[in-house]
Amino acid sequence: DGDVYKYYADGEWKNSSSGKSVAIINPTTRKTQYKVQACTQEEVNKVMDSAKTAQKSWAKTPLWKRAELLHKAAAILKEHKAPIAECLVKEIAKPAKDAVTEVVRSGDLVSYTAEEGVRILGEGKFLVSDSFPGNQRTKYCLSSKIPLGVILAIPPFNYPVNLAVSKIAPALIAGNSLVLKPPTQGAVSALHMVHCFHLAGFPKGLISCVTGKGSEIGDFLTMHPGVNCISFTGGDTGIAISKKAGMIPLQMELGGKDACIVLEDADLDLVAANIIKGGFSYSGQRCTAVKVILVMESVADVLVEKVKEKVAKLTVGAPEDDCDITPVVSESSANFIEGLVKDAKEKGAKFCQEYKRDGNLIWPLLLDNVRPDMRIAWEEPFGPVLPVIRINSVEEGIHHCNASNFGLQGCVFTKDVNKAILISDAMETGTVQINSAPARGPDHFPFQGLKDSGIGSQGVTNSINMMTKMKTTVINLP
Ligand code: G3H
Repeated sequence: DGDVYKYYADGEWKNSSSGKSVAIINPTTRKTQYKVQACTQEEVNKVMDSAKTAQKSWAKTPLWKRAELLHKAAAILKEHKAPIAECLVKEIAKPAKDAVTEVVRSGDLVSYTAEEGVRILGEGKFLVSDSFPGNQRTKYCLSSKIPLGVILAIPPFNYPVNLAVSKIAPALIAGNSLVLKPPTQGAVSALHMVHCFHLAGFPKGLISCVTGKGSEIGDFLTMHPGVNCISFTGGDTGIAISKKAGMIPLQMELGGKDACIVLEDADLDLVAANIIKGGFSYSGQRCTAVKVILVMESVADVLVEKVKEKVAKLTVGAPEDDCDITPVVSESSANFIEGLVKDAKEKGAKFCQEYKRDGNLIWPLLLDNVRPDMRIAWEEPFGPVLPVIRINSVEEGIHHCNASNFGLQGCVFTKDVNKAILISDAMETGTVQINSAPARGPDHFPFQGLKDSGIGSQGVTNSINMMTKMKTTVINLP
């Protein structure tokens, strides 16, 4: 009971001097599963100091050596997929198989980033002056990419391992040091992942992981003068961070209300399969989940029936049993989802299944005939509840999609590829998928949100570039 996971600083596992801990509640049992250290601001200061020192010599470490260490960490991570996945199951109720997939995907991401890094960072630019009017060929300009310094990484609960390494690997290959603040639900999975980097033998202080209460160290971290870049994935907190952060680059991904536009000529079996995968995997707790279906009235009855049949087959229960639908991350999250469901009920949505909840477990629910005056038409439930809005024209669908404050991804289903491209152009989202559900991966694809969905672009290449600056030397010839 007294066991509290240590935090990681200066290449060592440490107890916080606060003597306090933060409890991690298992979403399934709703009992305390683990405890982590509640780090103090003083400890954050120390971590920042050593991150700064470690970064100076890391930046001078040859690129191929940095890559070698990352490949080593990736292999160790994959070797330890079972114990890390077990933590994901207990901390965030991720279905057992998906938990393993998250760790394997993370190992692949680290390796890919190492390879991509040696290529793109191994290349610079050479310019001569006489291409600009009025100049002779007397200036040679050499440019290359240099690291930013200390990167602060804040991943969300739904991918505490994968969305941590998607920040750690590009930061390190580019010659930065990294401070990780994991989400409370998912902190122990993240600490295990960090241990794999520890085993790989990175220099002391280059990577650290501080755990604790957002109220105590959250703002302190994001406003810390030692931080040179913040990479954040999560909810509204990101908007608050962006207002407080100083003059540093920000990379943010902040949720979405991904629309699925279904045209009359769509392959409805394909659509139904993608709605199930897109809307209900990890119980809808993905920023890229399908969060509203906008279907042409003439095919709506058939589509809703097909989705209903598939919803009936989803297994509901414990993540250990690898059920499709598992408890949502917290009681407050379940209460929030229930609020959206009640609002839809009062305003006359048609329930395709009975609403059922047991603790944090919410049964999958499809709501038909949703109208724009219902909260569920606009808000993201981050749970297994999916609204269907019937539309009479494609323009109506595009209008609904673009009226959202979010703009992460969207998808359109039609056999007419010309129409699909025009719709994609009209949708104000960072990505549009044609004939498939939204998704971030493959992880080297660019990934970005418009409007309240984010700042900057992710994906392996973009993240490496974002965590660097151009440095130029000009040789002036006599
Ligand atoms: O939750 C946000 C993630 O970036 C979504 O990733 O599309 O691989 O589930 P995913």
